[in-house]
Amino acid sequence: MYKVLLVCLLALAAVSCQKINDTRVIQSFNDDWYFMLADSTMDASVPDYDHSSWRTLSVPHDWSIEGEFSKEHPATEGGGALPGGVGWYRKTFQLDEATKGKRVYLQFDGIYMNSEVWINGHYLGKRPFGYISFEYDLTPYLSYGKDSNVVAVKVNNSKQPNSRWYSGSGIYRNTRLVITSSIHVAQWGTYVKVPELSKQQALVKVQTTVLNTTGESTKANVHTFIKSKDNKVVTEASSALQLSESETVLDQELLVSSPQIWSINDPNLYTVHTEVSINGEKIDTYTTPLGIRTFSFDQQKGFTLNGEQVKIKGVCLHHDLGCLGSAINTRAIERQLEIMKEMGVNAIRTSHNPPAPELLDLCDKMGLLVMDETFDMWSMKKSEYDYSLYWDEWHVRDLTDHIIRDRNHPSVFVWSIGNEITDQWHPIGDSLARELTQIVRSLDDRPITSAMNPPNEGNTIALSGTLDLIGYNYAHDKYELHNDKYPNTPFIATETTSALETRGYYDQKSDTIKRWPIQWDKLFVEGNPGNTVSAYDQVSTPWGSTHEETWKIIKKHDFLSGMFIWTGFDYLGEPTPYAWPSRSSYFGIVDLAGFPKDAYYMYQSEWADKDVLHVLPHWNWTGRDSVDVWAYYNHADEVELFLNGKSLGAKSKEGEELHVMWRVAYEPGELKAVSIKNGELLLEKAVVTAGEPISIRLTPDRNEILADGKDLSFITVEVLDKDNNPVPVGANEIQFSIEGSGKIVGVGNGDPTSHLSLKGDKMKMFNGKCLVVIQSGQLSGKVVVHATSKGLKDAETVIKSYNIKQGINLNNN
Ligand code: GAL
Repeated sequence: MYKVLLVCLLALAAVSCQKINDTRVIQSFNDDWYFMLADSTMDASVPDYDHSSWRTLSVPHDWSIEGEFSKEHPATEGGGALPGGVGWYRKTFQLDEATKGKRVYLQFDGIYMNSEVWINGHYLGKRPFGYISFEYDLTPYLSYGKDSNVVAVKVNNSKQPNSRWYSGSGIYRNTRLVITSSIHVAQWGTYVKVPELSKQQALVKVQTTVLNTTGESTKANVHTFIKSKDNKVVTEASSALQLSESETVLDQELLVSSPQIWSINDPNLYTVHTEVSINGEKIDTYTTPLGIRTFSFDQQKGFTLNGEQVKIKGVCLHHDLGCLGSAINTRAIERQLEIMKEMGVNAIRTSHNPPAPELLDLCDKMGLLVMDETFDMWSMKKSEYDYSLYWDEWHVRDLTDHIIRDRNHPSVFVWSIGNEITDQWHPIGDSLARELTQIVRSLDDRPITSAMNPPNEGNTIALSGTLDLIGYNYAHDKYELHNDKYPNTPFIATETTSALETRGYYDQKSDTIKRWPIQWDKLFVEGNPGNTVSAYDQVSTPWGSTHEETWKIIKKHDFLSGMFIWTGFDYLGEPTPYAWPSRSSYFGIVDLAGFPKDAYYMYQSEWADKDVLHVLPHWNWTGRDSVDVWAYYNHADEVELFLNGKSLGAKSKEGEELHVMWRVAYEPGELKAVSIKNGELLLEKAVVTAGEPISIRLTPDRNEILADGKDLSFITVEVLDKDNNPVPVGANEIQFSIEGSGKIVGVGNGDPTSHLSLKGDKMKMFNGKCLVVIQSGQLSGKVVVHATSKGLKDAETVIKSYNIKQGINLNNN
């Protein structure tokens, strides 16, 4: 039986009072912060600092995304052309007398960057690395009852540039208070492994670190049990433990019979429950995810998961969430992963830093593999004020914390200790690679790679011989030579492609591949408004390839275990090869608003199980004589194209081809493609010449969301002609407004040159689409979203928001 205790956490602005069991309280610390942008001389750390005039907000919060795009910001367009600066956050809270005698920890999943934290004026410490999770023990400095406590956080992101992409600024990930008994499981205090697995049973080893802060030796009991996904206990073990030190480590072994395997298609999850008792009284509970699976990399066979060969079809993702900036939101991450899964993606690389923990939880649940990466630089800098400044003092701590935090996630299958690390070209690369791999190996046994530049002679990281996988970025022409050069270390393409596309924009002729910078001037064809790149898959960076080129090689050979495309989604910053006015990337297979570019369907036709037929471009080409039409398809013998009912012939992919193409004399009307299998029609897709825009169409990705103040609905906005055909051109500006319990939290259109605020309430159409993102409030009911635009009929859509039972799920049981 759980003892029940009434614990009230009183934030001065909002009082939350919950009945919880007394073993462990996990309470969100996200609401009721005061925030102020300041200069570096301001000191708001003292307890009685008057912050009453500051803005109030909830975290996760990113102040950079609220700023204006400008080429004057020192981050430059490479960092997203948004402001950095120094920000202070303060939060006041009270703790019930009943909390006395317990330990109170404050956890931050990530603060960008250089955070320093005080509780009641006591300095708790700093963390320069903007992507690392950490906690502070508040206990010695707390007041209880009527007296309030104040947390002050200074965030210093003023020294710029410190990143090669958009970082965001502030407390941009979740925060929580964790209240435990004085004896409890440490933060990230379990380590769960499956060293032996057969059809009949799995051996599960559970290592538990128990902290004893009482200063007295005590006997405890640790009861560990594993529950299946249908909540049945499938195995358990109990151990007596003498807690004579402040930290005691216990090893237990449990057997799970007829284990349900975690796989990409069926991500079966168990939960390991740890209960600590003293004299029969339960004083702490802790849960850990468990996925039972085996995998290996083989020099010849490539990657094998649960005994089956699987090609790693991966994408690299930066951490920003488009118009939401870096402020993490679980639904926004889930939407990104859903869009990737729908394309056939089975792996994510968290380029180039530790991700939000929610991303890994989602990958565990959704069946996505993760290459979990720690650093973009080691001791040598890539930008003026980057992490290399803190390397000597912090890298051991940050790497250790990263691995310990993430090692229980079944989705994590490879550690990457760095991306294109400059040290690889210097002798220090060898010793650092040895040091870092040794740290990782002391904590976990998953394979380690580093996303290197091609491992030519002189690459000291590759030559160190310490990596389990030779991973390098680009240089697809070297892949086929891998086994000759590195006969004892399997291969992985850690980063590939870097092709460029602007959604919805198409050059005249599509059958020449253009490599920047050699033929870059040719990209500026007549009618190109500038800083746009053809969305036919024909433009690549000199170091990369088109989408088709790299995949063709990877797919050919088993020993090429797989690839991570740069990138799944466009991201803020790094608009290479353009500069201002561009401020976000062109590499994404999906644009910054979440709308797929055409290459998405090439991968889908190759990677996904479903039947695919995609035809491009749109069919509004007044003034053009001929238009190249491409089709991506699968599962069919051929595709036949019809223009206004007249057949333009059937085509099928020959040899290694990944698309078919017709050069069509343009005439307006209906262009229709049909895919045919065994003489039968499989799929049909039509594009129609649209007339003048008349009305607006709003299509939410979800009409029902939770009224939890966090959930989101992503609404696609299109303008339609009189026959309801979507208009693929034009730049109508759409104004949004909302009624009901909810708010607009972002707008976007995927145009890397747009300088409209992504946090505003209006957006221009860009090549046929824009996006508005709605966040629920705390009240259930209807949220009505209106869209208006000069000369167009208004539109509205209704989102229903549902209340969930408040106060549940506070414990991590
Ligand atoms: C790679 C790098 C990525 C990104 C990409 C653009 O070299 O690892 O972070 O900059 O180039 O092509």
